[in-house]
Amino acid sequence: MPPSQTPTPGSNPTPGSPGAPGSAPAPAPGSNAPKRSAAERITQLFQSRYGRPPTWIAAAPGRVNLIGEHTDYNDGFVLPMAIEQRTLMAGSLAEDGGRRIRVVSELSPEMASFELDVLSPPEGTPNWWEYPRGVAAGMIEKGAQARGLDLAVASDVPMGGGLSSSAALEVATATLLEAAWRHPLDAVEKALLCQRAEHRYARVPCGIMDQFISTMARPDHALLLDCRDLTTRQVPLRDPNITVLIANTNVRHELSGGEYAQRRAQCEQAARELGVSSLRDLDLNQVIRAKPGLDALIFKRAYHVVGEIQRTQRAAELLAAEDYEGFGRLMFDSHVTLRDDFQVSCDELDLMVELAEDRKGIGGVLGARMTGGGFGGCCVLLVRAQKAADIQRYLYTSYLERTRIEPEIFVTRAGAGAELPRAP
Ligand code: GLA
Repeated sequence: MPPSQTPTPGSNPTPGSPGAPGSAPAPAPGSNAPKRSAAERITQLFQSRYGRPPTWIAAAPGRVNLIGEHTDYNDGFVLPMAIEQRTLMAGSLAEDGGRRIRVVSELSPEMASFELDVLSPPEGTPNWWEYPRGVAAGMIEKGAQARGLDLAVASDVPMGGGLSSSAALEVATATLLEAAWRHPLDAVEKALLCQRAEHRYARVPCGIMDQFISTMARPDHALLLDCRDLTTRQVPLRDPNITVLIANTNVRHELSGGEYAQRRAQCEQAARELGVSSLRDLDLNQVIRAKPGLDALIFKRAYHVVGEIQRTQRAAELLAAEDYEGFGRLMFDSHVTLRDDFQVSCDELDLMVELAEDRKGIGGVLGARMTGGGFGGCCVLLVRAQKAADIQRYLYTSYLERTRIEPEIFVTRAGAGAELPRAP
């Protein structure tokens, strides 16, 4: 990450800019562009930087959140799925037997190096390697017998698009360290460890959604996560007639870092003023009844969060019942309160959702909304599979025409969670 850039929730921690190697290149309209995947690049990267092949390669996916936005840090529900794009971390034990980790990224010419005995959180602006460093520190705190390592990272998770490349990097690191240090973690413990690394080492006050889905995703399933008690339910999403599209606006408004923390603080204030420990404890009628006594802005924040928590539970039921039209309507509703009440959307995201609305019904769009932290990044759409290519083309052309910005629009299946595809 360039030194001037502060990490933001769900942002990409790797240096570079959208379109740089490692992010998904802009696909031809209506298609997923073929490319050399991170899986193909990673061994070569490791070999070229360290002069030998890696022993382990771990992989962890980015994610797209279908519904349940800005609910995770309010003890609510979220319903994300893993995308097919993943971050890969390759590693081998250090040849000199030292207690040092060296790490390279395909996007950065410099090699980072840190001692395993000096792992306090950074003081200045965090650099991208603070993510693996924070994960290593967390594993050592849990009693792992740390050994020196050489590491390399390559990623296909689009950057700055709200698709959780930071969680993918953390979870890929943890997965590699589990193998290299022979210290297996329970899935919940692993997700929490990665979240803590992001809080302490990247100083991003993210919720728990991204690390959970990157750790626990199952192919062809979305994950309903109760962020209060951390229980999960896998909800099938494998109807061949239904497709998930991701439309990256390719804009990121720089306000996002501070705005996220501010929204969290406003939610905490709303809960305090409403006399509950978190907004999860309220239903929408209670919030509406309390409106006269609340500051207008605080009311709006609570209105979105409480409505969104209810919507997410309902959406999971509809998805399980294969009621895609009902599910899609809730996606549109979610966008409205994110835009008007939680105020984390932006013109480009709103435009993408409006364009999706043009293709509702016989056009094949079932639902669309902004996804992730907001202020740019991606929209997620649920569409009829046979219309997906038309919709992609329409969104691509219309968005480009209206904004002069080239979007990236791609299809994704619900992918797998973290794994160790290569082990000795
Ligand atoms: C970012 C954070 C998540 C979550 C979303 C908003 O992606 O990392 O924890 O809060 O924003 O839903």
